[in-house]
Amino acid sequence: MGDAALVLAAGGLQTRSNDTEHRFRVDTNFHYLSGLEEPGAVLILRPLRTPALTLFVPEQSERDAIYNGPRPGLEALRQQIGADAAHPLAALEVELPRLLDGLDAVYLPLGGGPSCEPAVRAAIETLRARERAGEVAPECLRDARGLLGEERMVKDAGALACLRRAIEISGEAHLAAMRATRPGLFEYEIAAVIEGHFLRRGTGPGYTSIVGAGANATVLHYIANRGPLRAGDLLLVDAGAEWALFTGDITRVWPVSGRFGPAQRDAYEVVLAANEAGIAAATIDSSLDAIHEVALRRLCEGMRALGLLTASVDEIREKELYKKYYPHRTSHWLGADVHDLGRYNLRGVARPLAAGYVLTVEPGLYIPADDASAPPELRGLGIRIEDDVLVTAAGPEVLTAGVPKRVAEIEALLGA
Ligand code: GLY
Ligand code: MN
Ligand code: MN
Repeated sequence: MGDAALVLAAGGLQTRSNDTEHRFRVDTNFHYLSGLEEPGAVLILRPLRTPALTLFVPEQSERDAIYNGPRPGLEALRQQIGADAAHPLAALEVELPRLLDGLDAVYLPLGGGPSCEPAVRAAIETLRARERAGEVAPECLRDARGLLGEERMVKDAGALACLRRAIEISGEAHLAAMRATRPGLFEYEIAAVIEGHFLRRGTGPGYTSIVGAGANATVLHYIANRGPLRAGDLLLVDAGAEWALFTGDITRVWPVSGRFGPAQRDAYEVVLAANEAGIAAATIDSSLDAIHEVALRRLCEGMRALGLLTASVDEIREKELYKKYYPHRTSHWLGADVHDLGRYNLRGVARPLAAGYVLTVEPGLYIPADDASAPPELRGLGIRIEDDVLVTAAGPEVLTAGVPKRVAEIEALLGA
């Protein structure tokens, strides 16, 4: 950072409707650096100055304490995070110019969540107005997301412990959902099994659960979860639990009545082969582009073998004909945000994988129900198989390995 300040906001409560609010979810970066979940708090880090770490926290009103319970005091919070100074948030306007005086730059998130940008700009104006008195305004506002994304790329032991726990709970929920599945239920009843399990384990979802039966599974971010589970249909579940803000991200697909039909099974095996090829490519110095390419190759081969496309595999790849059935990429970084913050390209080149990176491998095939060119038995199938993978010197470690994905394993679990 050099002689700069990093200014992070915890964020505040968001209105749900009229005068009720969503449950508070602290900004990921704020939590990543502080471990705090204090609505309205602000953190200022100046690595080369004293005080290096300053915390601002809103003073709690008597009414808020009555309705929502007392919050920890300023001094307790200061000690908890080892800050050098702590002030009520109301003092930010006076203190911020002092803390920014003479620095080269201010890092803050320039989008993507809460930020103190108006307060920082006001402090810069205050400093400029006092230049004749010897104060110096920073001249550079920098996007902290780059810095923080890099900080979060390699998962250290603490981050990995949280991720493993989040993934363990996510996996248990998928198994419970498989066991609960039977024709006649509705998607929301499966969502209830999954999210009920998260609650019983002391947490909640890391993103909105996707539970899609039949053709609903062809909608990538289907979250209505209202449809029926019909015998003969497949059910797609993309759901993950959060633990200390780290989240699992798992997709599995299984047959509602316990057995894959022959065409469903053929399509499923195509996606599984792409998933396994993608995982095998998650090695040091490989890249998400390389993972995507190998998985995509399998999918293109499969689209031809299944009779979805008649062009050659090379033509399917080069003319991007596959996008009709596979419109998304294969991987993203995973961590304290489900789509974690790190950069995907460095100086225009796909970022080489390093030990400690965690990523998803999630190829899919989505065949619209009204696709007259697809073989009838494949219409309305949506299949995605998503695993979470840790890159290590010894090769890819599949963190989601405990959740069955082979046809025989799934059918055995469903008791078909
Ligand atoms: N669940 C969101 C994703 O898989 O990227
Ligand atoms: Mn994902
Ligand atoms: Mn997912």
